[in-house]
Parts: sequence; structure tokens; C-alpha cells
Amino acid sequence: MNLKDTYLNEAEMLKQVPAFEGSKNVGWKSPSNIALIKYWGKRNDQLPQNPSLSFTLKNSFTETSVEYSLKKDSESQISFSFEGSEKTDFHYRIIKFTQSLYHYLPFLQQLDLKIESLNSFPHSSGIASSASAMSALALCYTSIQFDLFGTPDSKEKFLEKASFLSRLGSGSAARSVFGNFVLWGKSEAIPGSTDEAGIPMHFISKNGDLTLSDAILITSSDKKKVGSSMGHSQMEGHPWAEMRYEQARENISKLITSIQAGNDVNIINIIEKEALNLHALMMTSAKGFSLLNDNTWKIIDEIRNFRNKKKIFVAFTLDAGPNVHLIYRQQDAAIIKDWIQKELVKYCENGYWIDDEIGSGPEKLN
Ligand code: PMV
Repeated sequence: MNLKDTYLNEAEMLKQVPAFEGSKNVGWKSPSNIALIKYWGKRNDQLPQNPSLSFTLKNSFTETSVEYSLKKDSESQISFSFEGSEKTDFHYRIIKFTQSLYHYLPFLQQLDLKIESLNSFPHSSGIASSASAMSALALCYTSIQFDLFGTPDSKEKFLEKASFLSRLGSGSAARSVFGNFVLWGKSEAIPGSTDEAGIPMHFISKNGDLTLSDAILITSSDKKKVGSSMGHSQMEGHPWAEMRYEQARENISKLITSIQAGNDVNIINIIEKEALNLHALMMTSAKGFSLLNDNTWKIIDEIRNFRNKKKIFVAFTLDAGPNVHLIYRQQDAAIIKDWIQKELVKYCENGYWIDDEIGSGPEKLN
């Protein structure tokens, strides 16, 4: 049975909230992630058109706590505050997300929820916060289920359900529930992979662990002119759509083989082509838009030159925005950070960049 049907069946057992006094609290800290093989294009219910592969970050995270009590009125009350402020754009999305989970978590309708959230990175940094925000909240809701009903009854089942629920809030959030490398989406090459949730990946590489860092170079913190929902929708009827989905499936296999073989040239090539393909798809869509700016291209040029000169593992990738994720090996941190300070901060808005690295996944706060 697929996860959707499993959780819909399970929901029958989650309707009657056991009585409790006063309020209880759960909290999770959940990180963002950066995709090396990109998810771009979705089907109903936020199912991806192709598998994607990411690594989870460490320093870019959301902390969310949910205080819950038995509802006082006929309607459940949901309040949301972000860094102490209640009137945020995100409020509507959080309420909509919560209500969309009632099929799977019917007990939520019996509760009043007070949700408080904060990010480790500035709200307006241009960094996608939906992966960390949605996964943090989904983890909190799964924890409430556990506290009230004692299920899911294993760590694996808990994380699988949290990933499934996160996906419904933001596709890429499905990957944030696990640490290190994470695959989301059915891939013939990976047993156990599914479109419905992420799965953790363990690579055994010829060169030892691929311990990656991510310097996120902020070239603009402006609100994106095309949001990711609109962006995904541009893949419907895109002339390259089928070719792209096939390419992503192939790139998953090629990237995994290259990591296992310790083939840095291929790893870099695949990562960078994925980033450029993502943006080429945007430019050639019906809407025909580009999210990149001059400084994005200048940094990309600098990265290519530096790599040629120093023969070092350094690559770029991009999210749906103009900020460059500079990917390097942790062992090269000193030389890379020195180069960023000397040559790259001048392309960053107010010299701002985020020093991040591969992380071990979410942490329960209470
Ligand atoms: O999770 P969404 O709907 O915001 O989509 C994210 C898409 C990319 O960040 C561009 C790629 C990815 O796989 O994370």
C-alpha cells in the first residue's frame, strides 16, 4: 500500500483525542537543504516529476514550537508568530498547510495551536526558508501524534511520516527531515525510493566520506519575481519537460556512481549542469523568466577560474534564485574562505554570505 493510503487508514485511529489538562508543548529545529539534482515540476499532491538528491545543511535552520491544548470553541484556533511578529506573509500559508493535513492528522481539528517560529538566517536574505519551516512544523505535528497516540512507533516510521507531511507543505521540505544526503522521488536505481517521501542515502566513496560545505553567497535579498509554485507550473507543457525528467533520472544514477568512484570531475560537472539546466528551463518556459543577476554570473566565472587554477574541488549550484551556493570539501575550508573574503564578497549584497555545511538533520527541542 502506498503511504497516502496507509496514513488515511491510520487517520481513523487518530480522531478521538485522549483527554488532557492544560497545554503541552513540542518543538523541533529543522535545517534547510541544497539540492544537487533538482526537483522542478510536480504533479498533484506535490509529487515530483523526477527524483532529486540533496544534502542537508547545518547552520540554516528553523526552530518551531507548537503549544497545544483541547480546543475551547467549535473551531480550532491556530495562531502563528514569526520571530515575535504575528502579521507575516507566511501566516496564511501555515494555516492552509495545517488545514490540508486534517485528512491525515484529524486530531489537529480538536486542538488549539499556538505556533512560534524563528530562522537562524535573516528572513529577507533571499534564502528559501520553506524547506526548513515546513519540515519543522511537520515534525512538530508528528510529535503531537506520538504524544497523544503513541504512534508512529519507530524512529524510521516517525521520520517517514514527517517527510510525507513536510512534502505537502513544500516539496523540497520532504528532504530536510533527514541528515546528510537525501533522495526524494522514485528512482529505479534506488530500492525503497518513493515519490511520497524522502529517504536517507549513505554513500561509500573510494575517497572516504564526501564531507561538503556550502558557502551561500547572497547576491540579492529581493523577493523573487516568480515564486516556486508558479515556477513548477511552468513545466506543464514545457517543450523540454519529458527530456528534463529523463535527464534528472539519469543524473541521479550518474552522480551516485561518480561519488562512489570518487570521480570529482564528473561530480562537479553534474552538479553545475543541474543548476544551469534548472535556470535554462525557467528562461525557456512559456513565461520566459530569469532569476539570475550579473553578480550570479560573475561569481560563476570566478569559481570556474579558481578551479582551473588551483585544481581544487569547488562547484556552484543554484536554487530558484540568484544566490550562489559554492560547494567545496570541508578540508579546503581555509583556502576557500580566504578566497571568498578576498575575491567574492564584493559580489555579495552588503558583503553578506552564509557559512554552512552538511548537517546531521533535525533535532527535537522539547
Ligand atoms: O520546494 P519548492 O516547491 O520550493 O521547490 C524547490 C525547487 C528547487 O529549490 C529549485 C530545487 C530543489 O530541488 O530544491
